[in-house]
Amino acid sequence: MSIKVENLTKLYGEQKAIDGISFDIPSGQIVGFLGPNGAGKSTTMKILTGYLNATSGMASVNGLEVEANGIAVRKQIGYLPENNPQYLDMYVIEYLNFVASVYHLKNISKRVATMIEMTGLAPERKKKIGQLSKGYRQRIGLAQAMIHDPNVLILDEPTSGLDPNQLVDIRKLIVEIGKEKTVILSTHIMQEVQAMCDRAIIINQGKIVADDTIGILTSKDKKRLVIEIEFVESVSKEKLLSVEGVMEATQTKGNNWKLVTNKNEDMRIRLFDFAKNNNFTLIKIQQQEQSMEDVFKQLTSK
Ligand SMILES: Nc1ncnc2c1ncn2[C@@H]1O[C@H](COP(=O)(O)OP(=O)(O)OP(=O)(O)O)[C@@H](O)[C@H]1O
Ligand SMILES: [Mg+2]
Repeated sequence: MSIKVENLTKLYGEQKAIDGISFDIPSGQIVGFLGPNGAGKSTTMKILTGYLNATSGMASVNGLEVEANGIAVRKQIGYLPENNPQYLDMYVIEYLNFVASVYHLKNISKRVATMIEMTGLAPERKKKIGQLSKGYRQRIGLAQAMIHDPNVLILDEPTSGLDPNQLVDIRKLIVEIGKEKTVILSTHIMQEVQAMCDRAIIINQGKIVADDTIGILTSKDKKRLVIEIEFVESVSKEKLLSVEGVMEATQTKGNNWKLVTNKNEDMRIRLFDFAKNNNFTLIKIQQQEQSMEDVFKQLTSK
């Protein structure tokens, strides 16, 4: 269960909508795909789902190259497109039955009932789709994306149009699903990224400008600080995680690490002591304090 993109580029005429992007998402991760309007998020998702062909580069899902394995890939992914197209004249149950039959599912009525339950569609299930509010139509979009129990979910702005109560339910649902599957979702809501995602990929003008865990990208919560640190020696991850207060350790390059710490106090003193006691030579230590929104603005303005 994985998504892999390598040097992907898409040109619309002369415009480069995406420009040589690469990332790799293993299973069990929920990744927020962020970027300003027109950055290339939907274009990337359309390529991942086989709805558009890339101009160059490679996209694969579960090891299958998307362009060469269109049908096989589509069986394994659930996709919620950004404009959530639906047949407005169909009844909710009729539509979900139809989608289930397209996937040749067995026990269609049982599966449809499960999806209605999961996405909270029960009160509206007897209506025509065209009669539903935007949030309920979004729920149908999620139900159709998950009906065949795909192991990779590609959700383009899944929570747009949901009221605050629905938001909580749908976020919970996505987090639950994300425990076993690979999920990439786009959103413009930064709190949502913090609430749901393990990691964020930020794209701007077709290029990836950040790809890190939320812990590293976020330090809005003053109890979590990001510290960049460099040693002369190679230090193991386990060793760094053994320092009290260090929650995450990610090697960036060479002997450089980004640490996420959960302490309000100045961790720099503790890290100096750690280096001294273990005979490591510390050559850089820098504490960052930025919010997700700051990071987004910095990386994507202009
Ligand atoms: N079919 C198309 N023909 C020409 N240009 C397109 C087409 N689809 C998208 N683009 C352009 O490609 C760029 C990336 O668009 P895309 O829809 O991927 O952005 P996005 O990151 O999803 O933005 P948003 O946050 O507004 O949904 C934009 O400049 C857009 O105008
Ligand atoms: Mg979009």
